[in-house]
Amino acid sequence: MATARPGRVLIAEHELRARIGELGQQIARDYDRDNPVVVGVLQGAFLFMSDLIRAAPIDLTTDFIGVSSYGVGTKSSGHVRLVSDLSMAIEGRHVLLVEDIVDTGLTLAYLKRNLEARHPKSLRVCVLADKIERREIEVGVDYVGFTIPNVYVVGYGFDLGGLYRNLPYVAALEPG
Ligand code: PRP
Repeated sequence: MATARPGRVLIAEHELRARIGELGQQIARDYDRDNPVVVGVLQGAFLFMSDLIRAAPIDLTTDFIGVSSYGVGTKSSGHVRLVSDLSMAIEGRHVLLVEDIVDTGLTLAYLKRNLEARHPKSLRVCVLADKIERREIEVGVDYVGFTIPNVYVVGYGFDLGGLYRNLPYVAALEPG
């Protein structure tokens, strides 16, 4: 039986390392002594976030928020669900939200609304991949790793039905 699997490499391991290094330096310059809370969006962003914070030589704390919008398929359901909440209050804190991808923008718009309602001192967003062609609603992103084409991606946090997140590079999904 033919099954979809990782195909052409879109972002190689060395390209990820180089770009994330640049983002980390930029974030370190921008936040300097602000002691931000870096909030990773589960599950997809955990790999990117772990590399990003190690590339940012500043004092920071971390937290995670879990949402689900795609379920197990390859198409957005358009319905965003909070699966797990932050462990601490962010009122008065500088918050940097770290997401793996912005596609339609629905998830990020929901997250920004949700976090803004908790009155952080500032809220910025860093995404690894921006699939700009697919945007359905306008949503501001402050730091972008890569702009990618409209193909389904797997690897480096991106999954298909939970698989392939552990690949050290980003690949296009090859249909089976
Ligand atoms: C993916 C991704 C983003 C969202 C982006 O989440 O991690 O959160 O979709 O899509 P959008 O811009 O169209 O809203 P998914 O539900 O696949 O969860 P995961 O992070 O656990 O893989």
